[in-house]
Amino acid sequence: MRTGYVPLFLAAAAHAAGARFRLNQTYVGRDFLDGWTWETADDPTHGRVNYVDMHTALSQNLTYASSTKFVMRADDFSVVPPNQRGRSSVRISSNRAFDESLIVLDLAHMPEGCSTWPAFWTLSQKGPWPHGGEIDIVEGVNLGTQNLASLHTTPDCNMPQQRLQSGQTTSTVCDASVNYNQGCGVSFSKPASFGRPFNQQGGGYFAMARTKADGVRVWFWARGDRNTPQAISNPDALSVPALSRRRWGAPEAAFPTAADKCGYETHFDAHRMVFDLTFCGDWAGSAWPATCGPLNCVDYVNNNPKGFSDAYWEVNAVRVYTPY
Ligand SMILES: *[C@@H]1O[C@H](CO)[C@@H](O)[C@H](O)[C@H]1NC(C)=O
Ligand SMILES: *[C@@H]1O[C@H](CO)[C@@H](O)[C@H](O)[C@H]1NC(C)=O
Repeated sequence: MRTGYVPLFLAAAAHAAGARFRLNQTYVGRDFLDGWTWETADDPTHGRVNYVDMHTALSQNLTYASSTKFVMRADDFSVVPPNQRGRSSVRISSNRAFDESLIVLDLAHMPEGCSTWPAFWTLSQKGPWPHGGEIDIVEGVNLGTQNLASLHTTPDCNMPQQRLQSGQTTSTVCDASVNYNQGCGVSFSKPASFGRPFNQQGGGYFAMARTKADGVRVWFWARGDRNTPQAISNPDALSVPALSRRRWGAPEAAFPTAADKCGYETHFDAHRMVFDLTFCGDWAGSAWPATCGPLNCVDYVNNNPKGFSDAYWEVNAVRVYTPY
């Protein structure tokens, strides 16, 4: 047997078998109140935001939970004085952390509008950031309509230009210490993966799988897309068969973690999930002039509560599956 043949064969066999996943955690409606923590620290991305605690969020209806719905919204009734921290909003993180896993977000509505910067992502607990890694699943700013998935890591994590994915690579360097922390982003190719068009179609599903064998992959299906895998659209599914291309299609974003390019265990560990919604700041603020006109972003946030009536998350479910 020639050297080189065996590893190739094993890699192919492992890929064909793939990981099978079973349901580990379901978060629907009030489950979020018990299973997630409301974070109130200053926004590390320098947004014009005031993250409030759970009690405040519930009492002002910035957080609303029923048996079937979970809503997190921006304050859309207050003018914010310049000397206050910012417009009230919600940032939560899951109490449980997961390493190899499949996370499925069934989302009915995401925050939209000028100055908004919503994100659903996962983050290591290790610190200091970005040790243990950050995986951005849903992210975009202002009036954007294409989702961006991205990794932010410690050095020596690079993605190939050519990958089996349908989205467009915006950068191949995941190392957060270069390119002004741009991360190795992939812009989705399916229409209506973000912002107003996403909301107009009734939302959709995002799925992020991470395994040592295949790295990190992110898929998206609009509500009603007939190609949505059964296991994703059927909330009673307790297990998800191997994520084969035949069933799932190519991911929008694929981040292979080859040992010599971006070793999985060197760059990633167990992550908590995070939802947040900030305003202006490092990304939405710097992208503001190109999309939202001559006004100043912070002045807009302070003075236009009515501009935030569509700045809310409406979550049908977050489901986490782990390999078995
Ligand atoms: C609180 O928010 C929920 C979800 O948006 C909404 O259905 C409900 O009517 C709101 N309640 C009040 C008292 O405004
Ligand atoms: C659920 O996930 C946790 C964290 O990865 C793991 O320790 C646990 O064994 C999983 N439970 C099941 C039933 O798979």
